[in-house]
Amino acid sequence: MFDAKEFIDNSLKEIKNIVKENRVMSACSGGVDSTVTTFLVHKAVGEKMVAVFIDDGLRREGEPEFVVRTLKKMGAKTKYVDAKKDFFSALAGKTDAEEKRKAFRDTFYKTLGKAAKEEKITFMAQGTIKADVIETVQGIKSQHNVLEQIGINPETYGYKILEPLKELFKPDVRKVARELGLPKEISERMPFPGPALSLRVLGEVTPEKVAIVRKATVIVEEETRDLGTFQNFAVLHNDKATGIKNGKRVYGNIITVRIVESQDAVTAKFSRVPYDTLTRISERITKEIPSVVRCLYDMTDKPPSTIEFE
Ligand code: XMP
Repeated sequence: MFDAKEFIDNSLKEIKNIVKENRVMSACSGGVDSTVTTFLVHKAVGEKMVAVFIDDGLRREGEPEFVVRTLKKMGAKTKYVDAKKDFFSALAGKTDAEEKRKAFRDTFYKTLGKAAKEEKITFMAQGTIKADVIETVQGIKSQHNVLEQIGINPETYGYKILEPLKELFKPDVRKVARELGLPKEISERMPFPGPALSLRVLGEVTPEKVAIVRKATVIVEEETRDLGTFQNFAVLHNDKATGIKNGKRVYGNIITVRIVESQDAVTAKFSRVPYDTLTRISERITKEIPSVVRCLYDMTDKPPSTIEFE
C-alpha cells in the first residue's frame, strides 16, 4: 500500500539534499501533478524556489488566473510569462498531431529556458509522473515534459531536472495532494493534457479556433460537473457542416463532446450520459457559440479510440 505521508517525508528530504543552496524553478500548469510538485518543492526549499506559469494562450477559461492565485496562496514567489504569441506562431501551419506536440514542446522549453536564465536557477522541477515516462518511451505519445528518458539532455536548456513524482501513478499523486491538504479543485482535478486546447482544435491551431473550443469546454464542464466521470471535454473539428442559423443556410463549425470513464487513462469507456444532459449541452453549444451548427457525441471506447482526438 502506498503511504502518502511517508512519500512526502522522504521526498522533502531528497529535494533538500539535491537542491542544497541552489535555486529552483517549478513549472506549474495548474494540474494536480505540477501543483503537487510545486507545493512539495516549496515546502522543501521555500524562498529558493520560484514558481513559473507559462501562459500559452491554450488554457481553459479562467485557468491562468486560477493558477496564479493558487501559487500566491501557497506563498510561492510566482512568475507569470505571457508567451501566447510565441505558441501561436509555432503552431501556425501545423496540422499533424505529433508535429503540433513537438512545436508545443519546443516553444515550452524555449520559454522556460529564458525564464530560467532570468532567474539564474540550477534546477527545474516538473510534474512528470510514471505514466508520462512509460507512454513516451514506448512511443505511444510524446509527453511534452519527458526529455531525459528519450535522450534529450535537459542541460541543453540550461538546467538540471527535478522530478519528485516520476515514480508515482496518478491515484497516488492525488493521495499526496490530499495529504498535503491541497483543496479539492486541485487534488481531484480532471486530467488535462499539457499541450492543452491545441489538441482539441483538430488541424491547424489559431486563436479564433481556440476561442471557440474554449467556450464549448466551459459548457461541457458546467453541464457535467456532477457526473463524476474521468474526462469531459469538447473538440472542434477541422471540417465544416451545413446548418441553419437565423433562417439561413450556413456552413458552420462542428463540435464533438467526449465524456469518458476510466481509472488510469490506459483504457476508457464512453459514458452513458443521460439524454437530457446531452440535449442541454448540444442546445447551449449551438446557441451560445454562433459559428457552431452541429454538435456530436463520441460513442467510442479506448481502444479502439484514444481519449483525445489527436
Ligand atoms: P489518450 O488520448 O492517449 O490520452 O487516450 C490518455 C491521457 O493522456 C492525456 N494526454 C496527454 N497529456 N500531453 C499530456 O500531458 C499530451 O500530449 C497528451 N495526450 C494525451 C489525455 O488527456 C488522457 O488523460
